[in-house]
Amino acid sequence: MSKSVTFKLDGKSISFQPGDTVMDAALRAGEYIPHLCHNPEFKPHGSCRVCIVALNGRHLSACTLPAAEDMDIDNSSDAIVEQRRKLLQMLFVEGNHICPACEKSGACQLQAVAYYTRMLSPHFTHFFPRRAIDASHPDIIFYFNRCILCGLCERASREVDGKDVFSISGRGINSRIVFNSATGKLGDSQLAITDKAVSVCPVGAILHKHQGYDKPIGERLYDTRPISVVGDVAANLATGQPHKSDERNE
Ligand code: SF4
Ligand code: FES
Repeated sequence: MSKSVTFKLDGKSISFQPGDTVMDAALRAGEYIPHLCHNPEFKPHGSCRVCIVALNGRHLSACTLPAAEDMDIDNSSDAIVEQRRKLLQMLFVEGNHICPACEKSGACQLQAVAYYTRMLSPHFTHFFPRRAIDASHPDIIFYFNRCILCGLCERASREVDGKDVFSISGRGINSRIVFNSATGKLGDSQLAITDKAVSVCPVGAILHKHQGYDKPIGERLYDTRPISVVGDVAANLATGQPHKSDERNE
């Protein structure tokens, strides 16, 4: 029998398999590392940086960091949490994340990770962008102001749906999602309500029309348990278990 190889995550031994990233092994072990652009069903994107951890004084993304024996990883020091909080604050001010008015409130990973990191204010000056909504599709509505450019819809559409409906265009502050259709409108694309790409958005950027606020406050995904326990639904399905509870948020 081969010897189990492990690394340390906040002092706990985590077993890993060849090819695992730190995120893969942590999720399988039921340990939560905050993340937004990561979904275990897809190749890592490494863009949101919310999964930042410290290894030998360097800050690295856990979703792209290959697991190696005897690594000693810091996933929860004040410095790491503060760094994540700053990244989240930047995401909040760059878009218009008006949580009380958003249909995804209570089930939004951006909101839930912000609670987890104890983000109490946006800190930075709001950009208040004025990006149009695309409501041209009969079943789906797209809110550009809520998109955090995680690339999950792009990956899902290409890798699972085989359609390439979404892609990220532009650079830096001008980056945005564009739709693959003759008119550039979502309604003229091949997107269907049953597509995987419609269900992977971690925020309220891609929503079903004719359905909103369907769960009352108190019954929404993250109302009673924090994201460190619930995880994201995709991660739970992929690892076959919920995350272990995190004392800091119980
Ligand atoms: Fe990510 Fe959603 Fe934006 Fe697509 S629409 S890039 S899934 S935040
Ligand atoms: Fe690792 Fe986004 S979850 S960079």
